[in-house]
Amino acid sequence: MELKVLESNKIDEEVANEIVTLIKGKPNCVLGLATGSTPLGVYANLVKKYENKEVSFKNVRSFNLDEYVGLKHDNDQSYFYFMHHNLFDHIDIDPNNVHVPDGINYENCLKTYDNEIKKAGGIDLQILGIGSNGHIAFNEPGTDFDSFIHLVNLKESTIKDNSRFFSSIEEVPTRAITMGLRSIMQAKRIILIAKGKNKNRAIKALFDEQGIDEALPVSVLKLHPNVEIYCDKDAAEGVIDE
Ligand code: PGA
Repeated sequence: MELKVLESNKIDEEVANEIVTLIKGKPNCVLGLATGSTPLGVYANLVKKYENKEVSFKNVRSFNLDEYVGLKHDNDQSYFYFMHHNLFDHIDIDPNNVHVPDGINYENCLKTYDNEIKKAGGIDLQILGIGSNGHIAFNEPGTDFDSFIHLVNLKESTIKDNSRFFSSIEEVPTRAITMGLRSIMQAKRIILIAKGKNKNRAIKALFDEQGIDEALPVSVLKLHPNVEIYCDKDAAEGVIDE
């Protein structure tokens, strides 16, 4: 795992540059995309680059990591809405090439999502955030490293973290559909971004502790040959560069 510690806006620029370089080399590449506050700056940079005609997403395929169970596409807290509002509506990606796990008709999605990724040729670059409890996507502590797409009951800590986007904690869905850890590990390359003090404990555990443990889902990434971790100073505080 390669650790890069940069200012937050530099992370956004560098990761966006990596994505654009990938698209230029492989215009029909497959991107694995994340939601949450972490990738917002990356998406803003991608929109700018599209507007400046530096890149076209015409043939890009994308697969999102996860979605809340029970939120319709037009609910502004759904990840479908998030992706369209923050990225897809502002670039030339083909709507048929966009995939977000279906939190309403999830039965079918559970059967098909991993296969669709495989049929697309696998994910070339997976973007990840990290939860304060070390989750990646909605793979909460204790998730089987061998998991594919599945339903999950969100942990109290995740519901609390995400309640900042809702008007009350009671409105936060308690279930989600998420790509599994095995699905994520099949990506050819992974970039994880961590920003802010509340990610420091998970990042420290990732680098400080020797083990690879299902209690810390992100630790599965130690088994992947091509992972870059971008942290701001707050998230990386006390972590030795490996
Ligand atoms: P955040 O969420 O980007 O909103 O901090 C990240 C995550 O929970 O994976």
